[in-house]
Amino acid sequence: MLHDKTIILAISSSIAAYKSCEIVSQLKKLGAEVWVVMTREATNLVTPLTFRTLSGNPVICDLFSPELSKIPVPHISLTKKADLLLIAPCTANIIGKIASGIADDALTTMVLASSCQKLIAPAMNPLMWNNVVVGDNVKRLKKLNFEFIGPEEGKLACGDEDIGRMSEPEAIVSKAASLLVAKQDLAGKHILVTAGGTREAIDPVRYISNRSSGRMGYSLATAARERGASVTLISGPTNLSAPLDIKPIIVESAGGMLEAVMDYYNNANAVIMAAAVADYTTRKVQSTNQSKIKKSNKNLELVLRPTQDILATLSKQKGRKGRVLVGFALETHDLIENAKKKLKAKDLDLVVANDPKTFDSDAIKFSIIDKKGKISAFPQLAKSQAAHMILDRVSAYVR
Ligand code: CTP
Repeated sequence: MLHDKTIILAISSSIAAYKSCEIVSQLKKLGAEVWVVMTREATNLVTPLTFRTLSGNPVICDLFSPELSKIPVPHISLTKKADLLLIAPCTANIIGKIASGIADDALTTMVLASSCQKLIAPAMNPLMWNNVVVGDNVKRLKKLNFEFIGPEEGKLACGDEDIGRMSEPEAIVSKAASLLVAKQDLAGKHILVTAGGTREAIDPVRYISNRSSGRMGYSLATAARERGASVTLISGPTNLSAPLDIKPIIVESAGGMLEAVMDYYNNANAVIMAAAVADYTTRKVQSTNQSKIKKSNKNLELVLRPTQDILATLSKQKGRKGRVLVGFALETHDLIENAKKKLKAKDLDLVVANDPKTFDSDAIKFSIIDKKGKISAFPQLAKSQAAHMILDRVSAYVR
């Protein structure tokens, strides 16, 4: 079930740490690759050797430990690779540090450096859990998309029966799995996704293009497939490998992308235009006989003509009820205002607003704006996670 997933299990100093052994062993049974990071204090409760044996990987207590010398910059390379960071047990102290952006040990540094999904299983005394400060910190983390499980009511280490017990390992593992294995809400639906930048030929060897890597579109295609959709991925040339089970249709130019989209549009329940389509193309390939433009000392002028807007073309023939159109708006200024204008001009159902920092990055900070003008802002997230947030919205519209 979790055979292609990497999970970082962060263990802080609560007596519930003994239950984390069972969490590691259950995650391993489900096929996940597990890395354990512990606070120094937690190592007084259960030894790193136990977790090393159960996980099959070195345990991280100190980012500079010689044991980790083979892993370059462990807090970055491991967190980049991780699909989930699970903090179980998570003390009030660690919740407070994470909520304040403190990174003063291996565990908190890895949390701060990670953009994957995060799940927290708190464990503490009821007086601490009910403390307003802890409550505020939890609220803040929930707003930042941290998931929580527990704490539960029951017998506590201090002898009291009250809220504060860490949830049972089975419940934590099943919540972790449900976060990683997508719901099948798009089963039976056909989603068309475009990705990457287009290339407009100047001559047979040169072209005009943009910095799009295609990663957002590929993540959307992967996430839609995970949620049961049949997916058509139309992509400009990229360096990315094809997502599992999907054979991308590779196009070169804006004209090529328009043609391919029109070929598949009729069967689609939703079209997500994540591609950075060229707004202008060369009026004609400059060299009519298909040979390379030769160097000279004179200025060379390129005449560009506007391309046809794919989304605007689609929205004019929306036809079948329930077909959803999603655009991306990449803006260097007035992000929300410009994105709203695009939503209206292209008659879209949703627009995803982001800025150029997104290019060539694994992460994206974005807002989703819907037809009614509702804006949902998201913190910086891994594109794989952002894709699911976007599809949550798409799924609510698709019929
Ligand atoms: N788009 C499209 N056809 C084009 C150009 C863009 O369908 N010929 C789509 C993009 O895939 C994206 C949305 O329109 O989903 C917005 O693209 P963007 O480049 O941000 O905006 P433009 O409409 O091109 O306007 P501008 O470049 O002036 O910001």
